[in-house]
Amino acid sequence: MQTGFFLTTAGVRHKTNKMNKLKIAIQKSGRLSESSQKLLQECGIRFSNGTGSLRSAATNFPVEVLFLRDDDIPQYVEQGVADIGILGENMVLEKNKDVDLLERLGFARCRLSLAVKKEDSYPGISFFNNSKIATSYPRLLSEFLNKNGLKAEIEEISGSVEIAPGIGLADAICDIVSSGSTLLTNGLREVETLLTSEAVIIGNRNLPPSSKEIIEKLLFRIRSVKSASENKYILLNAPEKSIDRICSILPGMKSPTILPLAEKGWCSLHSVVREDEFWERIDQLKAAGAEGILVIPIEKMIR
Ligand code: PRP
Ligand code: ZN
Repeated sequence: MQTGFFLTTAGVRHKTNKMNKLKIAIQKSGRLSESSQKLLQECGIRFSNGTGSLRSAATNFPVEVLFLRDDDIPQYVEQGVADIGILGENMVLEKNKDVDLLERLGFARCRLSLAVKKEDSYPGISFFNNSKIATSYPRLLSEFLNKNGLKAEIEEISGSVEIAPGIGLADAICDIVSSGSTLLTNGLREVETLLTSEAVIIGNRNLPPSSKEIIEKLLFRIRSVKSASENKYILLNAPEKSIDRICSILPGMKSPTILPLAEKGWCSLHSVVREDEFWERIDQLKAAGAEGILVIPIEKMIR
């Protein structure tokens, strides 16, 4: 990174300097905060966590982590206060800001759902006509109501939405459901799903090339961490005559490694197997004559 000036496509003059750091916004506290920090740490980025201070510069990578309310992250990224943000897609869709979706992260999966009191009978979405619904997602909820030709009053509240029906504030709620335990403890029942969501990375639309370069490095690391968690390393022993069949079951990253065993006519085979295909492949391998199968977690997977 050189000191100097450059012009963006919009003709805006930006100053760059050697100390240019990428500002990453993550959730200060909540469903995503721990896993977002863990992801950055697994990418080898060292920073102190946000207890007390709301910003922390990494010691070994050109980034600064900002600890913010997830509700505010889309706006800050749009304005360029943060360059990129890690947050739930649900929040990105609700806030509808001018930002780019850079990567889906596959964790913090949840849904935005409507829930009613568990003792209420539910005839279908007509339940919501002329009802009052508490939510922190007024935009997505009114979109759903309009699409279904329903008229309801939206009570916008910023947190603890699940308490609303119990205290007589609303007839129903529209909120994030992950394990469902918050609904359960508050005597509510999920009846409609508006959308499903996962953690994503969003980015500012006018980033200078120096920031894009850091983002590319970061995304490369994130993808390596992600594919490692989606795959397992597998070792097994097999008679030589079964090797062709076993290779077709375990294609590996390029092709499996095959090493001779001390016992004549036998080999050891090393490969990689996808986590979601794991059990199915194991059954096929056993049927093909594989023995002594070892399965080992992968820490990083560089493609
Ligand atoms: C959501 C939601 C519930 C909880 C549901 O909060 O508001 O409180 O998660 O999870 P469960 O089904 O596993 O019990 P979130 O962390 O998204 O953030 P918020 O406090 O900003 O609403
Ligand atoms: Zn929040």
